[in-house]
Amino acid sequence: SDTPLALTPPMGWNNWAHYMCDIDEAKVVANAEALVSSGLAAKGYDTVTVDDCWMRRERDARGDLVADPVKFPHGMAWLGEHLHAKGLKFGIYEDAGSLTCERYPGSGAPEGGGPDHYARDARLFASWNVDYVKMDGCNLWVPPGKTKEEAYRDAYNAVARALRDSGRPMVLSASAPAYFQQGEWGGADWHKVLDWVGETGQLWREGKDIKVYKASAPRTSRWSSVLGNYGYNRWLGRYAAPGNWNDPDFLIAGAPGLTDAESRSQVGLWAMMAAPFILSSDVSALSPGGLAALGNTRLIALDQDPLGRQGAVVSSSPAFEVLARPLANGDRAVAVLNRSGTDRDVSVPLAGIGLPAPCVVDAEDLWTGKRTETGDALTGRVAAHDTAVWRLTPRGCAEAVPTGQINGLG
Ligand code: GLA
Repeated sequence: SDTPLALTPPMGWNNWAHYMCDIDEAKVVANAEALVSSGLAAKGYDTVTVDDCWMRRERDARGDLVADPVKFPHGMAWLGEHLHAKGLKFGIYEDAGSLTCERYPGSGAPEGGGPDHYARDARLFASWNVDYVKMDGCNLWVPPGKTKEEAYRDAYNAVARALRDSGRPMVLSASAPAYFQQGEWGGADWHKVLDWVGETGQLWREGKDIKVYKASAPRTSRWSSVLGNYGYNRWLGRYAAPGNWNDPDFLIAGAPGLTDAESRSQVGLWAMMAAPFILSSDVSALSPGGLAALGNTRLIALDQDPLGRQGAVVSSSPAFEVLARPLANGDRAVAVLNRSGTDRDVSVPLAGIGLPAPCVVDAEDLWTGKRTETGDALTGRVAAHDTAVWRLTPRGCAEAVPTGQINGLG
């Protein structure tokens, strides 16, 4: 079908970064309930996705995937119905290769060749009323005579076709680019994959997994992981558009391992990058500061801005990074990340973010809602690891005047 999907970045919850394979129906249902009772669902976090390890190790006699009957005693059709009854959407994980990353049955052709299961699995998911499919890219067989990049392109095109042919609109979260990323900048093949992946899916992972929760891990490891994923995703704005989103992976704001400032930074940076807002945490145990950041409707509106342009880095120093993002109503969002370990004063000249000076703007601090007017620079104090975010509305700010022409004097 031609239903436009994910015209704004998908929002919701996925179990992986908190529960990994230790997932079952009770945990999914409890987190769905927490999305509703916390108010996050009503604010848009509506797609609940069950990640890897939900199925049995073998397909059934017909060749269909089977949910693990111990973990999911009522089955997946029931789970979909349960989520839909709560006003939520149902997402499920599979893999375009022969096996998932945790070596459960994949949708792709077996290693060495043979029939794939893309059409069968898409029909099964449609019959369970699935709304969103996260199609990972582990263990993908590269047939002789094809490059790895061609094999992934063929596989993800086949997945997209199978989902379309199922007759049920299902968002496709593709993972192909993540299997080509090398270091912060990726390589030539990474960019090749990014060039076509948007024709297959509405969003795509393009880098590393956000660090999963481990009680024993050093406190700073999750913050490093947030900065690392921000680090490559910030350059990929040209691939983003309504229905096509770069996915720097899950929001772990409010989860163990991040301070309130770091939680704000993840929400602020992800919103500037028009990234999917997919929580991966125990929703009932979010810190109050993290929950406030995730539930901030001004930040959510920024993330979901219908223009769908990803923000870009406009200046960078060892301590600060400044991003700017044009918005649908002509406003402009500006964020300042303080990467340093100390609280600092910032001053961002309006001219440095693409606004003609002199020019007066109404600047709304999106964390607090406080408005100020300024004609020269945005100023404020940004705590260590925090991110300030403003929404600027031009007031008496002349449109850029074409060179050689002065208003009224032609
Ligand atoms: C990969 C993905 C993760 C998660 C796991 C599941 O690592 O990037 O998000 O889905 O597989 O095995």
